[in-house]
Amino acid sequence: MEERIKALAAQLESDAGAVNSKAELSEFWQKYLGKAGCVAELMKGLRDVPKEQRPIMGKTINQFKVQAEQRYQALEAEIARIELEKSNKSEEVDITMPAVRRPMGALHPITLVKNQIIDVFAGMGFEIYEGPEIEDDDHNFTRLNVPKNHPARDMQDTFYVAENIVLRTQTSGGQIRVMDRQKPPIKVLVPGRVFRSDSDATHSPMFHQMEGLVVDKGITLCDLQGMLDKFVQALFGAEVRTRLRPSYFPFTEPSVEVDVSCFECGGKGCPLCKGTGWIEILGSGMVHHKVLENCGIDPKEYSGFAFGIGIERIAMLKYGINNIGLMFENDLRFLKQFKD
Ligand code: DAH
Repeated sequence: MEERIKALAAQLESDAGAVNSKAELSEFWQKYLGKAGCVAELMKGLRDVPKEQRPIMGKTINQFKVQAEQRYQALEAEIARIELEKSNKSEEVDITMPAVRRPMGALHPITLVKNQIIDVFAGMGFEIYEGPEIEDDDHNFTRLNVPKNHPARDMQDTFYVAENIVLRTQTSGGQIRVMDRQKPPIKVLVPGRVFRSDSDATHSPMFHQMEGLVVDKGITLCDLQGMLDKFVQALFGAEVRTRLRPSYFPFTEPSVEVDVSCFECGGKGCPLCKGTGWIEILGSGMVHHKVLENCGIDPKEYSGFAFGIGIERIAMLKYGINNIGLMFENDLRFLKQFKD
Protein backbone atom coordinates (compact mmCIF):
# COMPACT_ATOMS: atom_id res chain seq x y z
CA MET A 1 0.00 0.00 0.00
CA GLU A 2 2.86 2.33 0.75
CA GLU A 3 4.10 1.89 -2.80
CA ARG A 4 0.66 2.78 -4.10
CA ILE A 5 0.54 5.96 -1.99
CA LYS A 6 3.96 7.01 -3.25
CA ALA A 7 2.84 6.44 -6.82
CA LEU A 8 -0.37 8.41 -6.16
CA ALA A 9 1.59 11.26 -4.57
CA ALA A 10 3.78 11.49 -7.67
CA GLN A 11 0.69 11.30 -9.90
CA LEU A 12 -0.97 14.05 -7.85
CA GLU A 13 1.97 16.39 -8.42
CA SER A 14 1.95 15.80 -12.15
CA ASP A 15 -1.87 16.15 -12.31
CA ALA A 16 -1.64 19.41 -10.35
CA GLY A 17 0.79 20.75 -12.93
CA ALA A 18 -1.79 20.21 -15.67
CA VAL A 19 -4.68 22.05 -13.99
CA ASN A 20 -5.43 25.28 -15.87
CA SER A 21 -9.12 25.95 -15.46
CA LYS A 22 -11.95 25.73 -12.96
CA ALA A 23 -13.30 22.60 -14.69
CA GLU A 24 -9.93 20.86 -14.47
CA LEU A 25 -9.62 21.92 -10.85
CA SER A 26 -12.97 20.34 -10.12
CA GLU A 27 -11.86 17.12 -11.84
CA PHE A 28 -8.69 17.18 -9.73
CA TRP A 29 -10.79 17.48 -6.57
CA GLN A 30 -13.05 14.60 -7.57
CA LYS A 31 -10.09 12.39 -8.44
CA TYR A 32 -8.28 12.81 -5.14
CA LEU A 33 -10.69 14.19 -2.56
CA GLY A 34 -14.14 13.25 -3.89
CA LYS A 35 -16.42 10.55 -2.48
CA ALA A 36 -15.03 8.00 -4.89
CA GLY A 37 -11.60 9.60 -4.99
CA CYS A 38 -8.16 8.19 -4.19
CA VAL A 39 -8.16 9.24 -0.52
CA ALA A 40 -11.54 7.58 0.10
CA GLU A 41 -10.40 4.48 -1.74
CA LEU A 42 -7.20 4.30 0.38
CA MET A 43 -9.25 4.68 3.55
CA LYS A 44 -11.44 1.81 2.45
CA GLY A 45 -8.31 -0.29 1.73
CA LEU A 46 -7.13 0.26 5.32
CA ARG A 47 -9.44 -2.55 6.36
CA ASP A 48 -7.20 -5.08 4.60
CA VAL A 49 -4.05 -3.80 6.28
CA PRO A 50 -2.80 -5.89 9.22
CA LYS A 51 -3.93 -4.34 12.46
CA GLU A 52 -0.48 -3.37 13.81
CA GLN A 53 0.38 -1.48 10.64
CA ARG A 54 -2.89 0.41 10.49
CA PRO A 55 -1.89 3.45 12.61
CA ILE A 56 1.23 4.04 10.51
CA MET A 57 -0.63 3.47 7.28
CA GLY A 58 -3.49 5.68 8.51
CA LYS A 59 -0.99 8.44 9.16
CA THR A 60 0.55 8.05 5.70
CA ILE A 61 -2.86 8.21 4.06
CA ASN A 62 -3.59 11.29 6.09
CA GLN A 63 -0.39 12.95 4.97
CA PHE A 64 -1.37 12.20 1.38
CA LYS A 65 -4.81 13.72 2.02
CA VAL A 66 -3.22 16.88 3.46
CA GLN A 67 -0.92 17.06 0.44
CA ALA A 68 -3.94 16.78 -1.88
CA GLU A 69 -5.85 19.46 0.04
CA GLN A 70 -2.92 21.87 0.07
CA ARG A 71 -2.36 21.38 -3.65
CA TYR A 72 -6.04 21.93 -4.23
CA GLN A 73 -6.11 25.18 -2.24
CA ALA A 74 -3.00 26.51 -3.91
CA LEU A 75 -4.45 25.69 -7.35
CA GLU A 76 -7.78 27.28 -6.43
CA ALA A 77 -6.06 30.54 -5.51
CA GLU A 78 -3.93 30.46 -8.63
CA ILE A 79 -6.89 29.83 -10.93
CA ALA A 80 -8.93 32.62 -9.29
CA ARG A 81 -5.99 34.93 -9.95
CA ILE A 82 -5.77 33.83 -13.60
CA GLU A 83 -9.53 34.24 -14.13
CA LEU A 84 -9.47 37.73 -12.63
CA GLU A 85 -6.57 38.66 -14.86
CA LYS A 86 -8.48 37.36 -17.88
CA SER A 87 -11.62 39.33 -17.05
CA ASN A 88 -9.60 42.47 -16.34
CA LYS A 89 -7.90 42.09 -19.68
CA SER A 90 -11.22 41.69 -21.49
CA GLU A 91 -12.53 44.90 -19.92
CA GLU A 92 -9.45 46.91 -20.71
CA VAL A 93 -10.08 50.10 -22.69
CA ASP A 94 -7.55 51.17 -25.24
CA ILE A 95 -7.39 54.90 -24.68
CA THR A 96 -5.13 55.35 -27.68
CA MET A 97 -7.87 54.19 -30.05
CA PRO A 98 -9.25 57.04 -32.20
CA ALA A 99 -12.80 58.01 -31.13
CA VAL A 100 -15.78 57.39 -33.40
CA ARG A 101 -16.48 60.72 -35.10
CA ARG A 102 -20.01 61.94 -34.64
CA PRO A 103 -21.15 64.24 -37.45
CA MET A 104 -22.09 67.68 -36.09
CA GLY A 105 -25.31 69.29 -37.21
CA ALA A 106 -25.37 72.92 -38.31
CA LEU A 107 -27.95 75.68 -38.40
CA HIS A 108 -30.03 76.28 -41.51
CA PRO A 109 -29.07 79.47 -43.40
CA ILE A 110 -32.50 80.94 -42.61
CA THR A 111 -31.98 80.26 -38.91
CA LEU A 112 -28.48 81.73 -39.09
CA VAL A 113 -29.71 84.97 -40.67
CA LYS A 114 -32.72 85.15 -38.35
CA ASN A 115 -30.44 84.79 -35.32
CA GLN A 116 -28.04 87.40 -36.65
CA ILE A 117 -30.86 89.92 -37.18
CA ILE A 118 -32.29 89.22 -33.73
CA ASP A 119 -28.80 89.63 -32.22
CA VAL A 120 -28.35 93.08 -33.73
CA PHE A 121 -31.75 94.41 -32.69
CA ALA A 122 -31.78 92.72 -29.30
CA GLY A 123 -28.59 94.69 -28.67
CA MET A 124 -30.64 97.86 -29.27
CA GLY A 125 -33.29 96.78 -26.79
CA PHE A 126 -35.86 95.17 -29.09
CA GLU A 127 -38.17 92.45 -27.77
CA ILE A 128 -39.51 89.50 -29.77
CA TYR A 129 -43.18 88.86 -30.49
CA GLU A 130 -44.54 85.98 -32.55
CA GLY A 131 -48.06 86.18 -33.97
CA PRO A 132 -50.29 83.51 -35.52
CA GLU A 133 -49.63 82.11 -39.01
CA ILE A 134 -53.36 81.80 -39.65
CA GLU A 135 -54.52 85.37 -39.38
CA ASP A 136 -57.77 87.26 -39.77
CA ASP A 137 -58.33 89.78 -42.50
CA ASP A 138 -58.47 92.58 -39.95
CA HIS A 139 -54.91 92.09 -38.69
CA ASN A 140 -53.39 91.09 -42.00
CA PHE A 141 -55.00 93.90 -44.01
CA THR A 142 -57.78 96.14 -42.78
CA ARG A 143 -56.25 97.65 -39.67
CA LEU A 144 -52.96 98.04 -41.56
CA ASN A 145 -54.81 100.56 -43.67
CA VAL A 146 -55.64 98.12 -46.47
CA PRO A 147 -59.46 98.04 -46.53
CA LYS A 148 -61.41 95.51 -48.62
CA ASN A 149 -61.21 96.19 -52.38
CA HIS A 150 -58.20 98.45 -51.86
CA PRO A 151 -55.88 98.01 -54.87
CA ALA A 152 -52.93 97.46 -52.47
CA ARG A 153 -54.34 94.01 -51.74
CA ASP A 154 -53.15 93.00 -55.19
CA MET A 155 -49.55 93.56 -54.08
CA GLN A 156 -49.74 90.19 -52.35
CA ASP A 157 -51.35 87.00 -53.69
CA THR A 158 -53.23 85.74 -50.71
CA PHE A 159 -54.13 82.20 -49.65
CA TYR A 160 -57.60 82.23 -48.10
CA VAL A 161 -58.42 79.62 -45.46
CA ALA A 162 -62.02 80.81 -45.04
CA GLU A 163 -63.87 84.04 -45.56
CA ASN A 164 -61.87 86.69 -43.72
CA ILE A 165 -59.25 84.16 -42.60
CA VAL A 166 -55.91 84.02 -44.43
CA LEU A 167 -52.48 82.46 -44.20
CA ARG A 168 -50.72 85.66 -43.22
CA THR A 169 -49.08 87.30 -46.22
CA GLN A 170 -46.78 89.43 -44.08
CA THR A 171 -45.58 89.73 -40.49
CA SER A 172 -46.90 93.31 -40.45
CA GLY A 173 -50.06 92.09 -38.71
CA GLY A 174 -47.82 91.53 -35.70
CA GLN A 175 -47.57 95.34 -35.41
CA ILE A 176 -51.31 95.54 -34.75
CA ARG A 177 -51.21 92.69 -32.24
CA VAL A 178 -48.32 94.32 -30.37
CA MET A 179 -49.89 97.81 -30.30
CA ASP A 180 -53.20 96.33 -29.12
CA ARG A 181 -51.59 94.91 -26.01
CA GLN A 182 -48.78 97.37 -25.34
CA LYS A 183 -48.63 101.14 -25.30
CA PRO A 184 -45.50 103.12 -26.28
CA PRO A 185 -42.57 103.04 -25.88
CA ILE A 186 -42.53 100.00 -28.18
CA LYS A 187 -39.49 98.35 -29.73
CA VAL A 188 -40.33 94.96 -31.10
CA LEU A 189 -39.28 92.39 -33.68
CA VAL A 190 -41.80 89.97 -35.18
CA PRO A 191 -40.14 87.02 -36.93
CA GLY A 192 -42.24 84.42 -38.69
CA ARG A 193 -43.34 82.41 -41.69
CA VAL A 194 -45.53 84.07 -44.28
CA PHE A 195 -47.40 82.70 -47.30
CA ARG A 196 -48.15 83.93 -50.80
CA SER A 197 -49.29 82.21 -53.97
CA ASP A 198 -46.06 82.91 -55.81
CA SER A 199 -43.22 80.65 -56.95
CA ASP A 200 -40.09 81.15 -59.05
CA ALA A 201 -36.30 81.33 -58.57
CA THR A 202 -36.60 84.12 -55.98
CA HIS A 203 -40.13 83.53 -54.63
CA SER A 204 -41.49 80.66 -52.59
CA PRO A 205 -45.12 80.14 -51.44
CA MET A 206 -43.77 80.02 -47.89
CA PHE A 207 -40.98 82.28 -46.76
CA HIS A 208 -39.80 84.14 -43.69
CA GLN A 209 -40.02 87.77 -42.68
CA MET A 210 -38.85 89.84 -39.77
CA GLU A 211 -40.98 92.82 -38.91
CA GLY A 212 -39.61 95.67 -36.85
CA LEU A 213 -41.67 98.30 -35.05
CA VAL A 214 -40.60 101.27 -32.96
CA VAL A 215 -43.16 103.68 -31.49
CA ASP A 216 -42.34 106.46 -29.06
CA LYS A 217 -42.42 110.23 -28.71
CA GLY A 218 -40.35 112.05 -31.34
CA ILE A 219 -39.34 109.09 -33.52
CA THR A 220 -38.18 110.18 -36.97
CA LEU A 221 -36.93 108.70 -40.23
CA CYS A 222 -33.38 109.53 -39.04
CA ASP A 223 -33.79 107.06 -36.16
CA LEU A 224 -34.85 104.45 -38.69
CA GLN A 225 -31.83 105.00 -40.92
CA GLY A 226 -29.45 105.05 -37.94
CA MET A 227 -30.71 101.69 -36.73
CA LEU A 228 -30.71 100.19 -40.22
CA ASP A 229 -27.10 101.33 -40.75
CA LYS A 230 -26.07 99.40 -37.66
CA PHE A 231 -28.08 96.42 -38.88
CA VAL A 232 -26.56 96.23 -42.38
CA GLN A 233 -23.06 96.78 -41.04
CA ALA A 234 -23.43 93.85 -38.63
CA LEU A 235 -24.65 91.61 -41.45
CA PHE A 236 -22.67 92.72 -44.46
CA GLY A 237 -19.56 94.46 -43.12
CA ALA A 238 -18.51 97.70 -41.42
CA GLU A 239 -18.02 99.60 -44.70
CA VAL A 240 -21.56 99.32 -46.11
CA ARG A 241 -24.08 102.19 -46.08
CA THR A 242 -27.82 102.48 -46.62
CA ARG A 243 -29.86 104.56 -49.01
CA LEU A 244 -33.56 105.35 -48.71
CA ARG A 245 -35.72 105.57 -51.84
CA PRO A 246 -39.32 106.79 -51.86
CA SER A 247 -41.83 103.98 -52.20
CA TYR A 248 -45.37 103.03 -51.30
CA PHE A 249 -46.78 100.79 -48.58
CA PRO A 250 -50.32 101.37 -47.31
CA PHE A 251 -49.29 101.15 -43.63
CA THR A 252 -46.45 103.69 -43.79
CA GLU A 253 -46.26 107.35 -44.74
CA PRO A 254 -43.76 108.24 -46.01
CA SER A 255 -42.71 104.81 -47.24
CA VAL A 256 -39.18 103.96 -48.27
CA GLU A 257 -37.33 101.15 -49.95
CA VAL A 258 -33.97 100.60 -48.26
CA ASP A 259 -30.89 99.78 -50.33
CA VAL A 260 -27.50 98.71 -49.05
CA SER A 261 -24.30 99.67 -50.87
CA CYS A 262 -23.07 96.57 -52.73
CA PHE A 263 -20.91 94.52 -50.38
CA GLU A 264 -19.54 92.55 -53.32
CA CYS A 265 -18.04 95.39 -55.37
CA GLY A 266 -18.06 98.19 -52.81
CA GLY A 267 -20.45 100.22 -54.96
CA LYS A 268 -18.52 100.24 -58.25
CA GLY A 269 -21.09 98.03 -59.97
CA CYS A 270 -21.06 94.25 -60.48
CA PRO A 271 -23.45 91.43 -61.50
CA LEU A 272 -24.79 91.12 -57.92
CA CYS A 273 -25.94 94.76 -57.81
CA LYS A 274 -26.73 94.67 -61.54
CA GLY A 275 -24.23 97.42 -62.10
CA THR A 276 -26.02 99.93 -59.88
CA GLY A 277 -23.79 99.70 -56.78
CA TRP A 278 -26.90 99.27 -54.60
CA ILE A 279 -28.94 96.26 -53.49
CA GLU A 280 -32.53 96.53 -52.26
CA ILE A 281 -32.92 94.78 -48.92
CA LEU A 282 -36.15 95.82 -47.21
CA GLY A 283 -39.30 97.92 -47.10
CA SER A 284 -39.89 100.47 -44.42
CA GLY A 285 -41.39 103.80 -43.43
CA MET A 286 -43.02 105.92 -40.77
CA VAL A 287 -46.06 104.15 -39.30
CA HIS A 288 -49.19 105.60 -40.97
CA HIS A 289 -51.24 107.77 -38.58
CA LYS A 290 -54.31 105.64 -39.40
CA VAL A 291 -52.51 102.49 -38.24
CA LEU A 292 -51.61 104.16 -34.93
CA GLU A 293 -55.21 105.35 -34.55
CA ASN A 294 -56.52 101.84 -35.34
CA CYS A 295 -54.61 100.67 -32.26
CA GLY A 296 -55.70 103.49 -29.98
CA ILE A 297 -52.38 105.35 -30.12
CA ASP A 298 -52.58 109.13 -30.60
CA PRO A 299 -50.50 110.07 -33.67
CA LYS A 300 -50.20 113.66 -32.40
CA GLU A 301 -48.36 112.39 -29.35
CA TYR A 302 -46.48 109.42 -30.77
CA SER A 303 -44.73 108.51 -33.97
CA GLY A 304 -42.98 105.39 -35.10
CA PHE A 305 -41.24 103.54 -37.87
CA ALA A 306 -41.65 100.00 -39.16
CA PHE A 307 -39.70 97.76 -41.47
CA GLY A 308 -40.12 94.33 -43.03
CA ILE A 309 -37.12 92.18 -43.88
CA GLY A 310 -37.31 89.12 -46.14
CA ILE A 311 -35.03 86.62 -44.45
CA GLU A 312 -34.53 84.39 -47.51
CA ARG A 313 -33.56 87.42 -49.56
CA ILE A 314 -30.89 88.40 -47.02
CA ALA A 315 -29.62 84.79 -46.83
CA MET A 316 -29.45 84.56 -50.63
CA LEU A 317 -27.51 87.82 -50.86
CA LYS A 318 -25.21 87.04 -47.98
CA TYR A 319 -24.36 83.46 -48.97
CA GLY A 320 -24.60 83.81 -52.76
CA ILE A 321 -27.57 81.42 -53.13
CA ASN A 322 -29.15 81.76 -56.58
CA ASN A 323 -32.37 79.79 -56.10
CA ILE A 324 -34.74 80.11 -53.14
CA GLY A 325 -35.89 76.50 -53.64
CA LEU A 326 -32.50 75.22 -52.45
CA MET A 327 -33.37 76.46 -48.98
CA PHE A 328 -36.38 74.18 -48.72
CA GLU A 329 -35.09 71.02 -50.40
CA ASN A 330 -32.99 70.06 -47.37
CA ASP A 331 -30.22 68.56 -49.50
CA LEU A 332 -27.37 67.90 -47.08
CA ARG A 333 -24.77 68.84 -49.71
CA PHE A 334 -26.28 72.33 -49.67
CA LEU A 335 -26.95 72.60 -45.95
CA LYS A 336 -23.48 71.43 -44.91
CA GLN A 337 -21.90 74.54 -46.40
CA PHE A 338 -23.26 76.97 -43.82
CA LYS A 339 -21.40 77.92 -40.73
CA ASP A 340 -21.99 80.97 -38.60
N1 DAH B 1 -45.11 93.91 -45.27
C1 DAH B 1 -44.30 94.35 -46.38
C2 DAH B 1 -44.21 93.23 -47.39
O1 DAH B 1 -44.47 92.11 -47.04
C3 DAH B 1 -42.93 94.75 -45.94
C4 DAH B 1 -42.94 95.99 -45.15
C5 DAH B 1 -42.82 97.21 -45.79
C6 DAH B 1 -43.14 95.97 -43.80
C7 DAH B 1 -42.81 98.41 -45.09
C8 DAH B 1 -43.13 97.15 -43.07
C9 DAH B 1 -42.98 98.36 -43.74
O2 DAH B 1 -43.29 97.19 -41.74
O3 DAH B 1 -42.98 99.50 -43.02
O4 DAH B 1 -43.89 93.47 -48.52
